[in-house]
Amino acid sequence: MTDRITIRRPDDWHVHLRDGAMLQAVAAHTARQFARAIVMPNLTPPVTDAAAAVAYRERIMAALPADADFTPLMTCYLTDAADAAAIADAHAAGVFTACKLYPAHATTNSAHGVTDIFRLAPVLERMQAIGMPLLIHGEVTDRDIDIFDREAVFVDRILSRLVREFPALKIVLEHITTAEAAAFVSEGPATLAATITPQHLIINRNALFDGGLRPHAYCLPVVKREKHRLAVRAAAVSGSPKFFLGTDSAPHVVGAKESGCGCAGIFNAPFALEAYLRVFDQEGALDKFEAFVSENGARFYGLPLNAGTITLVRGETPVPTIIGQGDTALVPFHAGETLGWRLVN
Ligand code: NCD
Ligand code: ZN
Repeated sequence: MTDRITIRRPDDWHVHLRDGAMLQAVAAHTARQFARAIVMPNLTPPVTDAAAAVAYRERIMAALPADADFTPLMTCYLTDAADAAAIADAHAAGVFTACKLYPAHATTNSAHGVTDIFRLAPVLERMQAIGMPLLIHGEVTDRDIDIFDREAVFVDRILSRLVREFPALKIVLEHITTAEAAAFVSEGPATLAATITPQHLIINRNALFDGGLRPHAYCLPVVKREKHRLAVRAAAVSGSPKFFLGTDSAPHVVGAKESGCGCAGIFNAPFALEAYLRVFDQEGALDKFEAFVSENGARFYGLPLNAGTITLVRGETPVPTIIGQGDTALVPFHAGETLGWRLVN
C-alpha cells in the first residue's frame, strides 16, 4: 500500500476568496496547498475591470503571510456591458487570466451576470483570438426548469452551441455535477475542459436531507443523484487531460448558511487536497492524482507547470466542526469527520 505521495505543487482552478475579514480568514488555507488559484470575481460589486482586479489581487496578497508562495490568477466577471478591447488589454497586461460567465441570477452575487451569452459574440471572438479562456457557470436560470436539470439543459441548449460557434475558444465548464456534462466534455474538442469539486465527487443529493435539512451540503450547482456522482468521479480519475481540480470553495458565515434562505456554497479549502486524494485512493487511481491536481489545468490554460513538490502521507486528519471565530466562523466540508491523508508542510 502506498502511504506517501509526493507530487508537483498543485493549483486550484476555481476558488472564492471573498474580501475584507472573510478574505483574511480564508486565503491562507488556499495558499498553504496551492501554488496558484483562479480567483472568482463575484464580489459585491463584481470585478469587471482591470483596476478592480489589480486592487483585489493586492488585497489578496496583503491577506497572506509574507513568506507565502502563492499567485492569485484574476478573472473578469462578464456583464452585458463587457468590452472586448478592455478585456484583451487587461489580459495582455497580465491582469486577467480568464473571463467568468455567470448567467444572470444563477448563483451567489450573479445579479450582474449575462442575460444572453450570444450577444457577447464580439467579446468571445476576441477571447478566442487571443487564447483567453472562458469559464462558465453552466446552469440555465429559467424558473420552469427543475433545479436538478439546469446543468444538463445548459449543456444541451447553450454549451453545445457555444462550442460550435466558437470552435477555437478555450472553455472550462466549471464544477460539473452531471453525467451529461462529464460526457459532453469528455467527447468534446480539446478546447473544452471541466473543473471538478471535492463535494461533487463525495456527496450526492441525499446529503442535503440526511436526517433533516443540511445547509452545509448546499452549493450550486446543487449536488445530484448518485449516478451523476459516479459519472463525475469516473471522469476525475479517468486520466483524461480535460478534467482538473477546482475546489469552488465558497465560504459563507454560519448564520448565512443556517438560515431560512441559506446561501449556496461549501467551504472546502482547509482540507481540499486530503479530500481529493482520498477519492483517488478509493478508486485505485493514485497514479492519476498528480495530473488531475497539478498538470491538466496548467496545460489547458497554457501556463507553466509549477516547480517544487508537496507530500501527503496516510494518517488521521480530524476536520474541526468549526474553523475561525466570530464574524468569520465557518463550517468546513467534512466537519467533524476524519480524513485518511494529511498534507505534510
Ligand atoms: C458560489 C459562491 O458562494 O460565491 N457558491 C456556490 O455554491 N458554488 C458561487 C458559485 O460558484 O456558484
Ligand atoms: Zn464558484
